[in-house]
Amino acid sequence: MTVSGVATAAYLVAALLFIASLAGLSKHETARRGLTFGIAGMAVALAATLALVIDGSGALGIALLVVAMAIGALIGLVRAARVEMTGMPELIALLHSFVGLAAVIVGWNGYLEHGDIPAELVRLHSAEVFIGIFIGAVTVSGSIVAFLELSAHIRSAPLMLPGKNALNLGALIAFGALTVWFVASPNIWLLVAVTILALALGWHLVASIGGGDMPVVVSMLNSYSGWAAAASGFLLNNDLLIVTGALVGSSGAYLSYLMCTAMNRSFLSVIAGGFGTEAATSADTEYGEHREINAADTAELLENASSVIITPGYGMAVAQAQYPVAELVRSLLERGVRVRFGIHPVAGRLPGHMNVLLAEAKVPYDIVLEMDEVNDDFADTSVVLVIGANDTVNPAAQDPGSPIAGMPVLRVWEAENVIVFKRSMAAGYAGVQNPLFFGENTQMLFGDAKQRVEDIVRALDRVPVH
Ligand code: TAP
Repeated sequence: MTVSGVATAAYLVAALLFIASLAGLSKHETARRGLTFGIAGMAVALAATLALVIDGSGALGIALLVVAMAIGALIGLVRAARVEMTGMPELIALLHSFVGLAAVIVGWNGYLEHGDIPAELVRLHSAEVFIGIFIGAVTVSGSIVAFLELSAHIRSAPLMLPGKNALNLGALIAFGALTVWFVASPNIWLLVAVTILALALGWHLVASIGGGDMPVVVSMLNSYSGWAAAASGFLLNNDLLIVTGALVGSSGAYLSYLMCTAMNRSFLSVIAGGFGTEAATSADTEYGEHREINAADTAELLENASSVIITPGYGMAVAQAQYPVAELVRSLLERGVRVRFGIHPVAGRLPGHMNVLLAEAKVPYDIVLEMDEVNDDFADTSVVLVIGANDTVNPAAQDPGSPIAGMPVLRVWEAENVIVFKRSMAAGYAGVQNPLFFGENTQMLFGDAKQRVEDIVRALDRVPVH
């Protein structure tokens, strides 16, 4: 068998491993196995690529590949070792920008160095080059804006250019017209024009979206990066890139769709970069006075409660409070209190963020429930502990004038008592004030969530279990 035959077979194995990886990653019980499949698939793909280059290129080709792999591996290792769980979305956004950049480079290379293309395939090749560069460049600039917003290097308030939908639509129409022109006569200046147009469109699409809607944007960019990789696969005649790109593209699009449904947003308006912007921010509205509570009184309230629901959010991740929270749960269960968790689909900063943290702290899966499974139970609950969550428990979502209007939220305010753990009265990620904090049945427990939960656990430990 030739080296290229072995490489094709290896690519097939790698593609199957990637599919097994996605299947594994869909449940937290099998996620670790899914990751192992993914790593194995990537190792097989890299080995096959190396073999192909060794077989087909000279020393320069091999040296370039080794240097590129070494640089990529170094960046990946350093970033992955340093990243906090809370910084994962921005790391993912940054990695998407690399995929987009690679697609742009492959596209340009496909134009400048295309070898002999049969006459009947020249137009198809031109279309592949043009579309690949367009998707890649939208992904690059969009991902960079998402990275800068998520890492707070630029403000997350949406950019509101006049006639922004018309601008987006105009850019798409211009892209269509330029594609037809380029296929008819492949001039380099058209390629320069589409690269600039796509970079501007990617920047505008993402900059127009409000911070609270960023999760959907990140998964949409994930999808774009997949399609960009698939476009490169067509240009390079590489089946594995086509299959993998299509897997990433479609799973990213499906995840975005699920998140849109969970947040009650229209999928089309996300793609058009048009939501999160409709209403003015209501951060300045006056809601009155808030009440405070301390850890000892919270412990007493919990001791006497018959049922408790914990709704964690981004603050639990920042404080790394999941371990004392797991201890608190054990202590309450020993005391015969019914305890459950209510997890909002976009709590934290990435899908499944809270589930991962709770699994890490060995909280039993069967008491970790999704929003829809607990939302009708709050009215019969003695105490709700809102630990570092804000937007996901904000009743302002029910106000049509609010920037987060229509987003489904955990209806914690229906419980008998609500204790909110946070450090200040500051707004959440979407920058919207939360009327929950001023509710008659709400009390604020200020301070770092980890320390406060530890204080409660200590206070409970002083009271023997009956
Ligand atoms: P947020 O609305 O972000 O609120 C988190 C709260 O935690 C803040 O109000 C903060 O208040 C508090 N906090 C921070 N550090 C803390 C600490 N050490 N101890 C105690 N409290 C602390 O959280 P959420 O309810 O989880 O909502 C998630 C938001 O992120 C949504 O707007 C969502 O759209 C967005 N988002 C989600 C994702 C995904 S996929 N999950 C991705 C990107 C963005 P203080 O500063 O006063 O302490």
